[in-house]
Amino acid sequence: MGATLEMIRTRRSIRDYEAKEVSQELLNQVLEAVRWSPSWANTQCWEIVVVKDRARKRELQGVMPKFNPARKAVVQVPVLLMLCAKLNVSGAHGGEFMTKFGDWFMFDLGIAAQSVCLAAHDQGLGTVIAGGFDHEKAKKLLGVPEGYEAVAMILMGFPARGSKALKRRTVDEFTHYERF
Ligand SMILES: Cc1cc2nc3c(=O)[nH]c(=O)nc-3n(C[C@H](O)[C@H](O)[C@H](O)COP(=O)(O)O)c2cc1C
Repeated sequence: MGATLEMIRTRRSIRDYEAKEVSQELLNQVLEAVRWSPSWANTQCWEIVVVKDRARKRELQGVMPKFNPARKAVVQVPVLLMLCAKLNVSGAHGGEFMTKFGDWFMFDLGIAAQSVCLAAHDQGLGTVIAGGFDHEKAKKLLGVPEGYEAVAMILMGFPARGSKALKRRTVDEFTHYERF
C-alpha cells in the first residue's frame, strides 16, 4: 500500500489528547498541506485561525453543545484550528455562481480539512473535525469579519488514546458503474 492510502486508512478521529505541545514546525507542515489543496478555480477561499490560548479555547468550548463528543478535547488539545471561508468566491465566475449549488466553500473547506487531518496523522498527530457548534457565536469570539464564515474546528495534538475504526459501507454499496 502507498503511504497516502495508508494514511487515509489509518486516520481516526481522536477525542483524547496528551498535554504535550505541538511545535511550530509540525504546525507549519500541516498548514502547508492546506496550501496545496485543490479548490474551485484555485480560489483558495480558506482562512485559518490558530488558537492556542487556553482561555480562548474555553470560550470556544462554551459555544459547543454538551452532547458533542469532541467537547472535552476542545480545551485539552494544544492547538485548535478554526477553518474559515471567504464567501462568494468558490463556485463563482464574474460575480455569478455557476452551478445550482451556489457557493462551493463547504466543498473546498472539506478538502482542506482532510489535508489537515492526513498531514497531521502523517506526523504522528491526532485530529478531530468538529462542526457541531454555534457558528455565529464562534465567529464573534474569533473576530471573523463580515463576508467570511467560521465553518469547522479541527482539534489537533498528540493522541492519548486511539479510536476504533468505525464501520464503513463497502465499496460495492456506494459504487455505480456507468449509471447510478
Ligand atoms: C464535517 C464533519 C463534522 C464533524 N463534526 C464533529 C463534531 O462536531 N464532533 C465530533 O465529535 N466529531 C465530529 N466529526 C467526526 C466524525 O464523527 C467522524 O469523522 C466519523 O464518525 C468517522 O470516524 P473516524 O473519523 O474516526 O473515521 C465530524 C466530521 C466531519 C467530516
